[in-house]
Amino acid sequence: MRLARHLAEHEQPRKVGADLPELTQPYIGLTPRKMNKTELARAIRQDIIAELDAVALYEAHIDGTDDETAKRIIRHIVNEEKQHAAEFMVLLEYLDPDQVTLGAEGAEDARLMLQGLEPEEPDSQAPTPQGLTVGSLVGEQQASA
Ligand SMILES: [Fe+2]
Repeated sequence: MRLARHLAEHEQPRKVGADLPELTQPYIGLTPRKMNKTELARAIRQDIIAELDAVALYEAHIDGTDDETAKRIIRHIVNEEKQHAAEFMVLLEYLDPDQVTLGAEGAEDARLMLQGLEPEEPDSQAPTPQGLTVGSLVGEQQASA
């Protein structure tokens, strides 16, 4: 599914033989209306997955051939897919500011661990990211009962 979505973005639809997998479905990403920012952020996360999935697939192609010309071209494409993933990540940070904050915290935790240090435990009293939680609805239910 993810591969089909990725190929739908990057390749022209084509007929395939019965013995080949169906690789393209160009209308799979269409929505019946314009997406709001939250929905678009969710879609962009799937796009990031598709880009990284393509990187893994194409690197497997490189590993699976001795043709140096093919390897060179596929490596070029792999590098472009890595760039696409990074571009989508920047777009996701624009669409979901919590991604910036939480992403920076996660990156800092990983950097500490790379240095052999332990990251701080998350602060359970810290405010939750924007949006409703299960707990934030409790008062609403009691007030309307
Ligand atoms: Fe791509």
